[in-house]
Amino acid sequence: MLEKVKVVVEKVISFVPKTEGELNAFRIEYLGKKGLLNDLFSSFREVPNDQKKEFGAAINNLKQLVQNKIEEYKDSFETEFVNSDIDLTKNINSDNLGSRHPISLVRNQIVDIFNRIGFTVSEGPEIEDDWHNFSALNLPEEHPARDMQDTFFIQTNPDVLLRTHTSSVQVRYMENNKPPIRTLSPGRVYRNEAISARAHCIFHQVEGLYIDENVSFSDLKQALLYFAKEMFGEKTKIRLRPSYFPFTEPSAEVDVSCNICNSKGCNVCKYTGYLEILGCGMVDPNVLENCGIDSKKYSGYAFGMGIERIAMLKYGVKDLRLFFENDVRFLKQFDKSI
Ligand code: PHE
Repeated sequence: MLEKVKVVVEKVISFVPKTEGELNAFRIEYLGKKGLLNDLFSSFREVPNDQKKEFGAAINNLKQLVQNKIEEYKDSFETEFVNSDIDLTKNINSDNLGSRHPISLVRNQIVDIFNRIGFTVSEGPEIEDDWHNFSALNLPEEHPARDMQDTFFIQTNPDVLLRTHTSSVQVRYMENNKPPIRTLSPGRVYRNEAISARAHCIFHQVEGLYIDENVSFSDLKQALLYFAKEMFGEKTKIRLRPSYFPFTEPSAEVDVSCNICNSKGCNVCKYTGYLEILGCGMVDPNVLENCGIDSKKYSGYAFGMGIERIAMLKYGVKDLRLFFENDVRFLKQFDKSI
């Protein structure tokens, strides 16, 4: 018996594993459940009493040898691993996380700015009826101003259309809520326009509506000035030009000072020093009445802006089509953290 252990000891001493696999096989051969050491330990019972002490010491020694061998070579394989091409210092977080689309970034920023002065988001359907998109907004059938927004109708039913603006959401909101109302409706809108660097048949808007007692035009102007400064920087100035929308009276278009040339004039602002960003006005009393709000008691303002336009100004994007093409080279330039 003792002789047999000695032979095994020799074998273990001279064993040099060349691969991790060989070392593994060695471990199983000796230390596995059905391995040699277990065999030897179970034959301990048969060893004559006077040899038990010596035999016990021998197999314990053998076990130790096997364990040392494994320990010794396990480390050397690990060293090999470290020296291989795998970079163990590399961050396990993938670098290829996507980033938010610039339209979502700007949308979220606009919503956030107006949230801070009490506006909350409302949403509505993209497929609308005539009433919510046009008639309730003081645009009865045959009104020439309907041509301002070239409309996609669904099939042959002129009552079903793709909304041309998110003012339709505000009509729904007024129908279902009592003043005071402070709501913001961001969303996708559709117009039958030729696709170019400045226009698309699909785009995104954020429209705002505030209705309460004694709301005045100066409230509107102040809210928009606050928005412009938050969006484009503290030094931004705004300019209001008289305009026309069927649903507001009086109406205005709002320009912000060009922050590319500091209003000195450049090709982006076409040498005017200002860039148009939105339309606005005091909600026409007819619209309030159409939506069940007493126009003698309440007044309100509304405004609407295109998200693409704001994003183009903010990021210096010259072609609106880029927002729809989803070219990764374009998209991955936008900050992941906002
Ligand atoms: N709904 C208008 C548009 O889409 C924008 C607007 C909203 C203008 C509210 C004035 C007031 O062109």
